[in-house]
Amino acid sequence: MKIFADTADIEAIRALAEAHLIDGVTTNPSLIAKSGAHIRDAIAEIAAMVDGPVSAEVAGTDYETMMREAEVLGKIAPNVCIKVPLTMAGLRACRTLREEGRETNVTLCFSVNQALLAAKAGATYVSPFVGRLDDINLDGTQLLRDIRQVFDAYPTLDTQILAASLRSANHVTGALLAGADAGTMPPGLIGELVKHPLTDKGLETFTADWAATGQSIL
Ligand code: E4P
Repeated sequence: MKIFADTADIEAIRALAEAHLIDGVTTNPSLIAKSGAHIRDAIAEIAAMVDGPVSAEVAGTDYETMMREAEVLGKIAPNVCIKVPLTMAGLRACRTLREEGRETNVTLCFSVNQALLAAKAGATYVSPFVGRLDDINLDGTQLLRDIRQVFDAYPTLDTQILAASLRSANHVTGALLAGADAGTMPPGLIGELVKHPLTDKGLETFTADWAATGQSIL
């Protein structure tokens, strides 16, 4: 499963990119607003730091505006992936962008039927929002499993499942077990994945035992 950082925080992305821990980045209007940067500057800086896809979301809600915005965003860098909402206008834009050879990420997916439409529109990625479904007491991880089952049953649907709105280590494990192609998560959560109390305890013991030998490898 590819790991994408779900953020527009330049320093956090730089640290993860330098550690080769991420395969791409996703942003959305809320994350751009939080960063305080202009979207064109933020996407340009991120795209230069990361080899993989950088999702940049259109802000318009009608097809014509989405297409004009997509043209601007797409010109920023070759690895910009145009993110469109799962609406009729967004799906139409997705189809046109696919025909133009652009990568797309259809966002705000909350059902299997929506995922089917995104795939039929030729989306490169569809983003089911796991955490936001859990927020309303539905099972976001089950949605990932259901979409995986449908996409596997219909091999002509070649859209990748990008598990989004992942908020915990359990969400990440759930996305992996569901067979998601990619998962996007905040940088802090990527840092959490490395942690295990037995790793800390084991390292403490090894360090103490090593110190007792008085040896040095260097
Ligand atoms: C996905 O592309 C979204 O940017 C993101 O994952 C939403 O996460 P949230 O529900 O935690 O805001």
